[in-house]
Amino acid sequence: MGELAINGGEPVRKEKIYYGCQWIDAQDVEAVVHTLVGDLITCGPKVKELDRLLEKMCETKHAVAVSNGTAALHCACIAAGIGPGDEVITTPLTFAASANCALYCGAKPVFADVEPDTYNIDPKSIERLITDRTKAIVAVDYTGQAVRIREIREICDKYNLILIEDAAHSIGTKYDGKPIGGLADITTFSFHPVKTVTAGEGGAILTNDDELYHKIMLACNHGIERDEEFMEEAPHEGMWYYEQVSLGYNYRITDFQAALLISQLGKLEKFKKRRAEIVEAYNEAFANIPEIIVQKEIPESDTCRHLYIIQLDLDKLNCTRREFFDAMSAEGIQPQIHYVPVYWFPYYKRLGYTKGLCPNAEQIYAGMMSIPLYPKMTDEDVQDTIAAVTKIVEAYRK
Ligand SMILES: Cc1ncc(COP(=O)(O)O)c(C=O)c1O
Repeated sequence: MGELAINGGEPVRKEKIYYGCQWIDAQDVEAVVHTLVGDLITCGPKVKELDRLLEKMCETKHAVAVSNGTAALHCACIAAGIGPGDEVITTPLTFAASANCALYCGAKPVFADVEPDTYNIDPKSIERLITDRTKAIVAVDYTGQAVRIREIREICDKYNLILIEDAAHSIGTKYDGKPIGGLADITTFSFHPVKTVTAGEGGAILTNDDELYHKIMLACNHGIERDEEFMEEAPHEGMWYYEQVSLGYNYRITDFQAALLISQLGKLEKFKKRRAEIVEAYNEAFANIPEIIVQKEIPESDTCRHLYIIQLDLDKLNCTRREFFDAMSAEGIQPQIHYVPVYWFPYYKRLGYTKGLCPNAEQIYAGMMSIPLYPKMTDEDVQDTIAAVTKIVEAYRK
């Protein structure tokens, strides 16, 4: 297939593509502009419309759009009553926010290992780590594939734990035919531009529980109570009256971001379909390449795939992951790594976490990379990506 570009050969493509990219069209731009020139650009009708739309799409009683997915996780932990002395079990194969949210509340993140084939948190590993202090599980639908919700729910019921589903990757995914959003006690989304739908920055918190919803509303808006029924010192003095009843944050999203997201959500099914086509093309191509291992899907998950991970079988290749990564980049296909195990970071090291904690996650991390997956990819982009992977495997095959 020719000399590798990294060694001076012709690259597969000249114009680089990246692992992810948003899709913004004229309809999105118009929706944002229309709201921007209106009267209310924050705390207005578009945010409420977005909340109702998320509730409908996710078949969940309550949805609260917020400023980003990290804020959503923080509010979820506050609403769950997580505090100092508590332990929160999560996966190391995630963006740090899934664990940081426990630290924000003074609790300790505890890392359960992942399954070697689905890369999602392993319920058996969760159960082994439960102590008297365990309060909640933050289960991440890694790459968009639903976690084993049934098994994790059973553990939560058995030990009286709160299940928070970090669904930053998985809007549009269904588990046993039901949309992600209302299956855990609390579900959080992220609408960062690399995610399936975007608000620029944005997030959402969903729950079917009225009490949790009330706490979430307080957490994301300064602890401000406007409902007389819940005020501590009502009767109030007039329409203007509100009470700060707890310590909350300003995690609000703007109306123009909400307008963008409403427009994006109208394209979710189209995005899901295109993502699935690309996943299928990759799966088919890599099925014939023994050096490439692909992520296993559980039948319960009808996945709206956010990331496509290839895992290199490094025993079969004469290169390191770094060399493969750099070779991909030189061919015009920029991969990324999702993720460095969270507890490897210096901050976590200083908290006392050590390498070796989750062997499966570490082994997967050692050989993995995310290759481009986004709906705007053309068939040619997909074929170029396959060509680059194939070319590099052939160059380094033992
Ligand atoms: C699994 C996961 N959780 C949480 C977040 C945080 O979301 P945000 O970037 O919107 O704060 C991300 C974002 O990258 C993520 O991938």
